[in-house]
Amino acid sequence: MIELPDEAATCTFAACLASEAVAGDIIGLSGTLGVGKTVFARAFIRALTQPHEVVPSPTFTLMQHYASPQLAVYHYDLYRIESDNEVQELGFEDAMANAVSLIEWPERASIPQTEQRLDILIKEVAGACSEKRHLKIKVGEGWSKRFKSILAVFEATAND
Ligand SMILES: Nc1ncnc2c1ncn2[C@@H]1O[C@H](COP(=O)(O)OP(=O)(O)OP(=O)(O)O)[C@@H](O)[C@H]1O
Ligand SMILES: [Mg+2]
Repeated sequence: MIELPDEAATCTFAACLASEAVAGDIIGLSGTLGVGKTVFARAFIRALTQPHEVVPSPTFTLMQHYASPQLAVYHYDLYRIESDNEVQELGFEDAMANAVSLIEWPERASIPQTEQRLDILIKEVAGACSEKRHLKIKVGEGWSKRFKSILAVFEATAND
C-alpha cells in the first residue's frame, strides 16, 4: 500500500509511474466517484507531454488521445459504457499495442489481464475533506522490476 498525504503526492507518484511506462502498458484506475482517478491520469499524461497539457476528463468522449515524442497515451473513462463492444469500437486493441492505456473504471469492461497490466485502487481514508489517499496496486509480471525502481524514486522524492 502507498500512502499519499495530498494531491501533490498523487501527482508525483503518477509522474514516477509515467517515467517507466512503455508501449503496451495498461493501467487501470479504480476508486469511487471523485476520488482522484482523473487527477492521477492528468499528472501521468503531463509528465509525458508538457506540464500544462490540457487533460479533460473523458467522461463524455470515453477516450482522449495524446501524442508524445516518447510514448502515445490513450486515456479512457468507461463509467458510461454499456457493453464491451463500445470499447472495441474505440480501437482499444490497436491502442493497447502501440501506446500506454490509462483506464478509469476498468471494471466496467473486459480489459485483458496482460503481463503489462497494472491496477491501482485509490481510496479515501480520512473523510471527504481530506486530501489523504491510499493506493492499492496490483502489478503484472512485466512491471515487477520497473515497479521497484518507481517506488524507490517516489520514496526518495517524498523524503526530500
Ligand atoms: N490526494 C489526492 N489525489 C487526487 N485528487 C485529490 C486528492 N486530494 C484531493 N483531491 C481532489 O479530489 C478530486 C478528484 O477528482 P477527479 O476528477 O480526479 O476524480 P475521479 O476519480 O476521476 O472521478 P470520476 O469517477 O468522476 O471520474 C479533485 O477535486 C482533487 O482536487
Ligand atoms: Mg475521472
